Amino acid sequence: MPKARAARTVYRCQECGGTAPKWVGRCPSCEAWGTLVEEREAPSAVGANVPPAMSRPMPIGEVDMAQWRPQLTGIGELDRVLGGGLVPGSVTLLGGEPGIGKSTLLLQAVSSIAADGATVLYVSAEESTQQVRVRADRLGTLSPSLYLVSESALPHLLAAVDEVRPEVLVVDSIQTVFDPDLGSAPGSVSQVRECAARLVGEAKSRGLATILVGHVTKDGGLAGPRVLEHVVDTVLAFEGERHHALRLLRASKHRFGATDQLGLFEMTGGGLEGVPDPSRLFLADRRHGVSGSVVVPTMEGHRPLLAELQALVTRSSLASPRRSTHGLDSGRAALLLAVLAERAGLSFDGVDVYALAVGGVRITEPGADLALALALASALVGRPVPADLVVCGEVGLGGEVRQVAQCERRLAEAARLGFARAVVPRSSPGDDVDIELLRVDSLAHAIDLVGLAPGSTASVEAPAPRLRAVAAHDLPDHVPDDLLGSTSWDETT
Ligand code: TYD
Ligand code: MG
Repeated sequence: MPKARAARTVYRCQECGGTAPKWVGRCPSCEAWGTLVEEREAPSAVGANVPPAMSRPMPIGEVDMAQWRPQLTGIGELDRVLGGGLVPGSVTLLGGEPGIGKSTLLLQAVSSIAADGATVLYVSAEESTQQVRVRADRLGTLSPSLYLVSESALPHLLAAVDEVRPEVLVVDSIQTVFDPDLGSAPGSVSQVRECAARLVGEAKSRGLATILVGHVTKDGGLAGPRVLEHVVDTVLAFEGERHHALRLLRASKHRFGATDQLGLFEMTGGGLEGVPDPSRLFLADRRHGVSGSVVVPTMEGHRPLLAELQALVTRSSLASPRRSTHGLDSGRAALLLAVLAERAGLSFDGVDVYALAVGGVRITEPGADLALALALASALVGRPVPADLVVCGEVGLGGEVRQVAQCERRLAEAARLGFARAVVPRSSPGDDVDIELLRVDSLAHAIDLVGLAPGSTASVEAPAPRLRAVAAHDLPDHVPDDLLGSTSWDETT
């Protein structure tokens, strides 16, 4: 191991890994406050990660692609996000909050790979082998070519790799792995970075597909080492609401394919199950005839996804009324309240407003504006939006409704699930889709068209049966007059 220089003291940022020669309150690289920690810079860091000369220059057409073919993991939703599976020699970082299901997902994936005959080494640096075995028992996956080791010291970990000679290596998690040769404390940024760099070197030289698990902080970033994202080939984020079974897997970086695929799982008693038809899942428990509920066809990458947005408006007893959103962008919701007030005469003064995306999804694209605005309007006036309707469109500050991307795919998904009508921007394509298009050019127009304007008894022609089947007890009994805007809201219903 090269030892070219003596150890010296540096101050390293625990956020970005940047260094300063003396302590300062603010990191000179990423400008985070109070993140510098004194470290002994390891002498072995110099030259330790120089990879062996593996390739020589060659014409591009002669580059051997055989070993770069991805191998399916057998977990359909994971393969979808990876664009066909794991590439030999690649390094994938799987990030997610503690308890979200990273270990479960990887154990299922490597069990499936091992069941196909490949040798897999699962390094559990956090849990004992017994704990992992208990989980594997629960998942019903005990393959003889899946090897477990509970180890956090890097030299022992690499010795295990030498012994097992796996095709796939999982390190759960990279933050608990440490190299005793480095001067810094286990868990520090330089430890994580150096250990990851060693593992990347091993992956490349052995053609070993490696998956590193990384914990994320509360604000969603990878804990400490953002630097990790640069050294790996693929960064996957496993997300979800702790209290919902739904889990979303996305790639934020992928050197072997697109990053716009979404994998959807449901956490069940028997592990993670793929959700091939998420729209049905999200809409399964929807109640018809309730005000404040609107279905929006959104896109998650290439995948159309129907989700229900809900809004609730109550009289406020607070000096500054409450605005609460869940799974939605609160800034966007505030903007829509302002546009509703100014361009459609619907004032939300003096009322508390709650809005959420049902089912633990997070919908922040502007294409959901119109749906959210109609949900808010419907909650305010206490009248439901027709149940056979989906709504998509972006709302501008002038109250105009603008086109959204991939409208036809969204509408096709809505039609597939039995929705009969769609409120869309005037210029929207979609005439080929088997769904009736209700074109609108402004928010006020849309409010009028779906029957949320005062006095209107649904101006949508030929209301669907479900629309007429609204139960009276589902409707709020009144909307206080003073909460309605000053425009033509003279009738109450
Ligand atoms: P885990 O994979 O340990 O999360 P992470 O590695 O991201 O910290 O999963 C933890 C949660 O998943 C735990 O609360 C229990 C739950 N779980 C199930 O609901 N069903 C299962 O089959 C398994 C294995 C776990
Ligand atoms: Mg875990």
